[in-house]
Amino acid sequence: MENLISLVNKIQRACTALGDHGEASALPTLWDSLPSIAVVGGQSSGKSSVLESVVGKDFLPRGSGIVTRRPLVLQLHKIDEGSREYAEFLHLPRKRFTDFAAVRREIQDETDRETGRSKQISSVPIHLSIYSPNVVNLTLVDLPGLTKVAVEGQPDSIVQDIENMVRTYIEKPNCIILAISPANQDLATSDAIKISREVDPTGERTLGVLTKIDLMDKGTDAVDGIAAEKVLFWVCCRKVGYRLQVFWGSQVSDLKLDFIVHSMEMLEGKSYRLKFPWVGVVNRSQADINKNVDMIAARRREREYFSSTPEYKHLAHRMGSEHLAKMLSKHLEGVIKSKIPGIQSLVNKTIAELESELSRLGKPIAADAGGKMYSIMEICRLFDQIYKEHLDGVRPGGDKI
Ligand code: GDP
Ligand code: NA
Ligand code: MG
Repeated sequence: MENLISLVNKIQRACTALGDHGEASALPTLWDSLPSIAVVGGQSSGKSSVLESVVGKDFLPRGSGIVTRRPLVLQLHKIDEGSREYAEFLHLPRKRFTDFAAVRREIQDETDRETGRSKQISSVPIHLSIYSPNVVNLTLVDLPGLTKVAVEGQPDSIVQDIENMVRTYIEKPNCIILAISPANQDLATSDAIKISREVDPTGERTLGVLTKIDLMDKGTDAVDGIAAEKVLFWVCCRKVGYRLQVFWGSQVSDLKLDFIVHSMEMLEGKSYRLKFPWVGVVNRSQADINKNVDMIAARRREREYFSSTPEYKHLAHRMGSEHLAKMLSKHLEGVIKSKIPGIQSLVNKTIAELESELSRLGKPIAADAGGKMYSIMEICRLFDQIYKEHLDGVRPGGDKI
């Protein structure tokens, strides 16, 4: 299975190198057939934070406002225990990053190179690979957040532009959608749910993630230590139609309590049902980021949070970033397995097509974002190489699947 996912990673990388971003290009159908996982949601819902937790590394620009301004296609490659982890950008071949703070700076710089230091967005993806003993093999796409209004320095069309860009990634039947919604906002207004339902009405390929669960009871005007019975009592009252205003003290707002009950019901699968169960996560807050709380501490705290908070204790075994990463990997395996014959025939067809093109033209046909030209010969060699190295071993009927 590992081999299979790594093959998919390579083909995806080849597509970008050949200038195929999934838009009109030389090889659109190849990209279309490959599985990927895209993170969607409103601005500052915690998309980049969730991606970082899945990866287990601090490397993405995060924060309030529009931080992610270009799609980031991120490939995780598992390498041997004890090997040193590193990152590589497609636009900087052969440069190995071992300092992940430098990776974050390069993402920011490469974003600015395309868009200027502005609040503009661009649909040209940044391609990043991370090689680490501590990841599962996954390809993920971080996307700019959906927004409702243009801010200063942005064209009025930005709301629609972002939506369209997000849609080009998630409408593909092979895209697994990680729909991010913050627990401290009304789900009825969730951009993630809205756009996911639009492209995946049956929820076949949508995983719901509820972030900021800690903001439900650890805010400044804290609803500290709400006992499980009290929340349950509240649920019962709601069910029978009672409305309790302030239940135990003046700081507890009706609204906040509603959110707690609501997110519990979602995580338990009682409301906003998706085909797959919601996963609740606790990412680092802005204060944690400012204090440089590291990933290991953040994960430990997240685990402790779910296992010790009375309201969520019974759900702890299927909550948190680590559980999410496992779920994703399993889901992806299923998708790839079901696609093997399709991908294989497509690679075959593409090689055959390129060979016939070659005999007709014999000159360059595709250019990447940097303007580098690829001859048909090179394309053929690339696919041939991928095919020989990997596909031979995973042919249906072969023993690796
Ligand atoms: P994005 O715009 O959707 O990519 O969101 P970011 O990952 O950049 O996060 C936006 C802000 O929300 C940052 O200040 C994060 O620290 C904060 N944040 C994200 N997830 C959580 C969470 O689970 N709990 C808390 N308290 N803050 C979070
Ligand atoms: Na943000
Ligand atoms: Mg982001």
